[in-house]
Amino acid sequence: MQLLPGFRDFYPEDCARRNYTLSVWREVAARYGFLEYDGPVLEPIELYKKKSGGELLGQLFDFVDKGERHVALRPEMTPTLARMVAARERDFKKPLKWFCAPSFFRYEKQQRGRLREFLQLNCDILGDASPGADAELLALVIDLLRTFGFGPQDFVVRLSDRDAWMQFALGRGVPQERLLDFLGVIDKLERTQEAESRRKLEEFGVELEAVRAFIADPSAEAAKLQGIMADLKARGLAEYVAVDLTIVRGLAYYTGLVFEVFDRNGKERALAGGGRYDALLEVMSDGKVKMPALGFGMGDVVLANMIEEVPAAKARRDAWIASRNAAEVYVVVAEESRRTEALGVVQTLREAGWRTDYALSAAKVGKQFQVAETLGAKFAVVIGAEWPEVKVKDLATREERLVAAENVATLGRA
Ligand code: HAM
Repeated sequence: MQLLPGFRDFYPEDCARRNYTLSVWREVAARYGFLEYDGPVLEPIELYKKKSGGELLGQLFDFVDKGERHVALRPEMTPTLARMVAARERDFKKPLKWFCAPSFFRYEKQQRGRLREFLQLNCDILGDASPGADAELLALVIDLLRTFGFGPQDFVVRLSDRDAWMQFALGRGVPQERLLDFLGVIDKLERTQEAESRRKLEEFGVELEAVRAFIADPSAEAAKLQGIMADLKARGLAEYVAVDLTIVRGLAYYTGLVFEVFDRNGKERALAGGGRYDALLEVMSDGKVKMPALGFGMGDVVLANMIEEVPAAKARRDAWIASRNAAEVYVVVAEESRRTEALGVVQTLREAGWRTDYALSAAKVGKQFQVAETLGAKFAVVIGAEWPEVKVKDLATREERLVAAENVATLGRA
């Protein structure tokens, strides 16, 4: 039986890597005061038809359930989050700073950086329309990547503004109801053949040259984003950000500021993307709740590729995994007749919180020491002729001392 395309098995080494990613995501989000939430894996398909739009609609894993409901596995979090917050808006102090890091599903063509089931960290700020909130969110995305061990030479946050594109399009006669289709063409510009882009833009009466000239001069946009840049500069984070009008984002709900994060080598697809969606809660609540909002999603797939490519990030990850996986203490049963006593010692050590391992069946003493080394144990506790004392050996310094078995949990250090 084969795996379905775009899905993954997680062997222990894969789980360890996933746990590392989740632990950095959670730690940095908490550092910024974000609270964790979650929603259902399955939602009515209407939620995405109405709210996500764009190419996501062609990528839904959807089916009709036994109660005749047309449902979809979640391809993203933002519509669910908007629904949840709109439903209980009065219960929360503003601004809300919330994050989640579950699995999402998209029926995409499997390629480097894109799978059909992936993890995505979502961080969103709701109830604050100020540039201070924009900068806070950008600082978070930057600090996440710095914590993984990436520097300004490894990634860049490309900052843009959908408003600017809407003005551009409306000023050239693109009708309001076709704006999203027009933005879709701009979104794919970098990934589409020139002749194809030219043809598509002509359908809107817009020349490719005009689009290119607009992208080539982001000065007006840079002036508009000055407040955000000043904020990031105050935090020493400005070098990670560049104004870049090629970014418009493929989802329907974005209203103003939008951004995407890329590796500097241009080898990977986007690592993270987000922006403002100031009108989504209002649409979601039939006009009842008006709340500005912004956020981003960061996937685990491109992130894992980048960690493999950047030695500093890889070393940090591997050290974390090694420190988590290693046994701290290995109990060596030097005399098999003392196995009962050895089991008591194992239990005492584990109850005291030491990650403890031992041979489940009789094995030569040399072999047991070998296993202790392989497992990365710091101490061996040898149960043998010295009983009721045990020998505690520091496996790095080779130092040994005798400790009364009842005090074994101190490992002779108290
Ligand atoms: P998105 O740009 O569709 O945005 O996804 C954000 C990130 O999720 C991407 O940059 C990528 O790292 C990861 N991602 C997306 N699709 C896949 C896939 N098929 N395989 C692997 N990784 C993938 C959103 O989803 C927005 N809801 C983000 C957001 C939150 N906007 C505001 N708040």
